[in-house]
Amino acid sequence: MDHNTLVLFGATGDLTQRKLLPAIWSGYMNGRFVNTDIIGIGRKNWGTEGFRSHARDACRPSNDARWSAFEQKLEFFQTDVEDKKSFDALCHHLETRQNLLFMLATLPELFPKITERIAKIKNAGFKRVMIEKPFGHDVKSAKSLHRLLSKHFGDQVYPIDHYLGKSTVRNIMVLRFSNPLFEPVWNHKYIDNVQIIQSEDQGTSRRIEFYDKTGALQDMVQSHLLQMLARVAMEPPKTWAPLSVSAAKANVLKKARPSEQVVFGQYAGYESEVGHPTDTETFVALKAFVDTPRWKGVPFYLLSGKKLEKRFAEVIITFKPAHYMDQQTLKDTLTITLQPDEKFALSVNLKEIGQTELKSFKMEYCQSCDVRPNAPQNYEILFQEALLGKKTFFASWKEIEACWKFVDAVQNKVRGQKPLKYAEGSKGPQTAASITEWKDYVG
Ligand code: BG6
Repeated sequence: MDHNTLVLFGATGDLTQRKLLPAIWSGYMNGRFVNTDIIGIGRKNWGTEGFRSHARDACRPSNDARWSAFEQKLEFFQTDVEDKKSFDALCHHLETRQNLLFMLATLPELFPKITERIAKIKNAGFKRVMIEKPFGHDVKSAKSLHRLLSKHFGDQVYPIDHYLGKSTVRNIMVLRFSNPLFEPVWNHKYIDNVQIIQSEDQGTSRRIEFYDKTGALQDMVQSHLLQMLARVAMEPPKTWAPLSVSAAKANVLKKARPSEQVVFGQYAGYESEVGHPTDTETFVALKAFVDTPRWKGVPFYLLSGKKLEKRFAEVIITFKPAHYMDQQTLKDTLTITLQPDEKFALSVNLKEIGQTELKSFKMEYCQSCDVRPNAPQNYEILFQEALLGKKTFFASWKEIEACWKFVDAVQNKVRGQKPLKYAEGSKGPQTAASITEWKDYVG
């Protein structure tokens, strides 16, 4: 059986603690990663024992016996990637391994140095690299990152968007294309608007230094929100091969266009957390259009923010009202919930027994409710796919560049504007409610 090693650069960081280690542990408990070892890389003098105890805190295992077996797979290799001798020692260590999957959960400034060096490792099996966003900071820098990575790794680069590991996001295409119910009405004749909302109640936690250079538009819209938009708005792909699906997504992303309605916000205590005045936005709401015949005139509303009233993420497709006798019909909605649970809900007009008034009734399927404790985590799916060499749930560079074009256009619209302050625990700046359909949600 092939043997894999997952090499985690940035092993002492926030992402590894919050998402990566719990996902690997969850995968192990779900029968995955049996023939995979994990080597954590960091500058800190943790040693393998320190890494294991850190991993235990991060994963909070409920099964001691299985944890004892799992932690044998964890090793820590102290490395300063800026120091040639230290990095060489790591590379020699890795040459004894068969398949290598690198995960770069580091500051992007380190990508060139790391990829150039690890590309030269002579191991016996495959060598693949997964990278975390941000993939650059605009179209130009994304293109040069792409060039750099493909120079060293060819097509063995797996750019991560962890939302693509979420079951409901993966199911958007299934819902659209495997049910004859939806495709005939999935267009401007029947759809009134599409809302994509990602609302967090938490702030930036330990990542404030990184976040302050990024902001909500680059952090969330460039990646997760536009990836969801692509799945909702894409045309049926020519085939179901990953390249063809990705081409269909890239094509629609190229047609996405922000309108003039953009609101940037910043939560009240943000500047004191950063420690200096800053114009970084922690909230963005905008109205966009997709210039294809299918979506003529249909507004797409995107919203993302931190320290808001509650944590939830939803895609809401609102249909136009129907004409039924002389009655006022309510707008049907299809709501795809990613967070806190993973659910699909369809609201339709019906009458209660003995009543004459139309009312809206909800039919709901909660995917995650039954399997909650064992539900595979996003990164678990992504590690698994990358180990198998499958790219279906990764973003392609064409998609990434199209997303940056959209984001660059938004950036141009707000240049020189200060983000509007909003109270922590609120629904964001009041002004965002002026972007019509948000009235239900914002302000
Ligand atoms: C990350 C962003 O990609 O997604 C974070 O960098 C954000 O700022 C996070 O908090 C949200 O992910 P999830 O899965 O908790 O919705």
